[in-house]
Amino acid sequence: MSSENDGEKLYPLGYEPVITPGAVDDNVRNNLLDFILQSGPSEVVDTDLFAVMAKRRSTRKFLDKPVETTKIDKIIAAADTAPTAGNFQGFEIFYIKSPEKKKLLVAACNKQPYVDAPVVLIFCKNPSRVKLDFPDHILKKFAIQDATLAAGYSQLAAQALGLSSIWIGMFDEQKVMDIIETDLVPSSVLCIGYPEQTKFPKPRRNLKDLVHVTW
Ligand SMILES: Cc1cc2nc3c(=O)[nH]c(=O)nc-3n(C[C@H](O)[C@H](O)[C@H](O)COP(=O)(O)O)c2cc1C
Repeated sequence: MSSENDGEKLYPLGYEPVITPGAVDDNVRNNLLDFILQSGPSEVVDTDLFAVMAKRRSTRKFLDKPVETTKIDKIIAAADTAPTAGNFQGFEIFYIKSPEKKKLLVAACNKQPYVDAPVVLIFCKNPSRVKLDFPDHILKKFAIQDATLAAGYSQLAAQALGLSSIWIGMFDEQKVMDIIETDLVPSSVLCIGYPEQTKFPKPRRNLKDLVHVTW
């Protein structure tokens, strides 16, 4: 760590930002974000994080039922709570509303029909936001991590709100960029809605095979 200084912010050595993230007071969180996170809907299904994790299961069949705006706001706000490199938020979210664009996205996503879901969020990397004095490839690495983590937070939030989702990683980057008219490279497409049926979570390998304890 860099040395302590009266009242000055501490950053890990080498991670000192070139500029301070946003010209805002770090102690006051964005009001709208806090409001959305703390407000209704009152019928949030699960507030137990571990229960949400334990029950989450991808869905590729959604009901034709619209998702309430308050839930969509919460899903997006959840993404905004994710940690990001240097807190520079090196990602953007494209919220696709147009049915025509959703159809084009199906084609851009290897013809996966469920991409035409009630809610479609595209998480893009934005390394230009990451104002850290590191080589380009590091900033790109940070941006992909920022975008991926944010999408993961949204996915869990959707589950907590009684929704389900499918993470789409198989797409033609350029085609998606053309559809949403951006120069930013997408990292994932998150499709969300009410599931046709609630399925049991998929099995995983044994934890002991996953963890490599290293002394
Ligand atoms: C990086 C990544 C890429 C994925 N890409 C696709 C995809 O293109 N199409 C799809 O149907 N599912 C995709 N999935 C969803 C996985 O197939 C799914 O999460 C996995 O089978 C585990 O199931 P679960 O989410 O129900 O636990 C992707 C998931 C991840 C994390």
